[in-house]
Amino acid sequence: MDLAPFLPLTTARLTLRPFTPKDVDDMYAYQGLPEVARYLYRPPRTREQCEAAVARSAALSDWTADGDELVLAVTRTDTPGVIGETVLKCASAHARQTEIGWALHPAHAGRGYATEAATALGGLAFGVLGTHRLFARLDVENTPSVRLCERLGMRREAHLVENDLDGTRWGSEYVYAALAHELRQD
Ligand SMILES: CC(C)(COP(=O)(O)OP(=O)(O)OC[C@H]1O[C@@H](n2cnc3c(N)ncnc32)[C@H](O)[C@@H]1OP(=O)(O)O)[C@@H](O)C(=O)NCCC(=O)NCCS
Repeated sequence: MDLAPFLPLTTARLTLRPFTPKDVDDMYAYQGLPEVARYLYRPPRTREQCEAAVARSAALSDWTADGDELVLAVTRTDTPGVIGETVLKCASAHARQTEIGWALHPAHAGRGYATEAATALGGLAFGVLGTHRLFARLDVENTPSVRLCERLGMRREAHLVENDLDGTRWGSEYVYAALAHELRQD
């Protein structure tokens, strides 16, 4: 499916759109922070890695096959610049399983922007992409993400114990999910 006709997504306070090359510094401002990378099981991104991520987002792949990704920059309508990102990943095209993810610059946390962006992205997943089940995987210590999933109305489906290794720390994850008719749409 060609995604371009359905973008950008707009909400009361936000616009979600593909990244452009001008957004590299804005992405690096949050993806380069240790506290943002902490629960992503990878080091903070370098500026060069942000350039590559921006280029992938700007290229806007189709939504047809397992592994296809839609990465959207989150921007506020009242101020310029990118404050974070939201991601949809096609986990199974056949079973219509979609993974959702998010990251915000800490300066913009605590105001409901991630909830607003994720709600809009869930609307796209269910309303346009035909997703049957939307899920998120998060470190059990990632309390802001746990709260976000619960605010969205997702159900805690699994607690995976020490299923990943972050340096020398074993990581445990929750899987949260919602079916098409369950996720909050407002
Ligand atoms: C996960 C992450 C996006 C959550 O950010 P967040 O700011 O907590 O989420 P929101 O933007 O939705 O804001 C919600 C908070 O703002 C408050 N809030 C204030 N105004 C609000 C409004 N108008 N609407 C909704 N919530 C509002 C909420 O009460 C909530 O605070 P609480 O959790 O203390 O109750 C952020 O912590 C982050 O980027 N983490 C690093 C990256 C990461 O770990 N990603 C996930 C990997 S799985």
